[in-house]
Amino acid sequence: MKRLAILASGSGSNAEKIMDHFKNSSKASIALVASNKLDAYVLERAKKFNVPTFTFTRKEMEAGVLLEKLKEENIDWVILAGFLLKIPVELIRAFPDKMVNIHPALLPKYGGKGMYGAHVHEAVKAAGEKETGITIHLVNENYDEGKIIFQAHTALDELDTPDSIAAKVHELEHKYFPTVIEELLD
Ligand code: GAR
Repeated sequence: MKRLAILASGSGSNAEKIMDHFKNSSKASIALVASNKLDAYVLERAKKFNVPTFTFTRKEMEAGVLLEKLKEENIDWVILAGFLLKIPVELIRAFPDKMVNIHPALLPKYGGKGMYGAHVHEAVKAAGEKETGITIHLVNENYDEGKIIFQAHTALDELDTPDSIAAKVHELEHKYFPTVIEELLD
């Protein structure tokens, strides 16, 4: 049985889909939901699934507190589901090829510094893109540049707004992220 930790900074709709997917799994369990935001809604969602939660500040993470907790909990895989802080390199190195991120666009487009959440969808709209999508990738030391595991596309038209783009992207994320994680564990 693999022990997964989810790191999330916000609402946690992806985290919820993942917790739901693995709730009766014999392959993996969600052993921890950790957030850098004390009031992140993802923490409420975790309670609903009886998943233990952990919160920490950026400074604590940078001082190794989160890594310590993940070791203490014997975590095998770290899942980034809307986690918006830069991960310290020691933490990335502690989970080689065992840390996976979801990005709300088709990398390598719309990745890198400042490209998260609504900023991504605004940039996609401003560029007049005809499609966008999701990228699930391993995390290496150059954050959005790790090995791409999976991408899915969705068409856009001129009537789309950043909000409608976000909704289309979330739909893809919810549909694919849990099963892509499950396949990775094999
Ligand atoms: C998701 O769309 C995820 O792809 C994005 O944050 C959102 C979190 O939504 N992540 C990034 O932008 C990382 N660069 P959720 O809290 O409802 O799961």
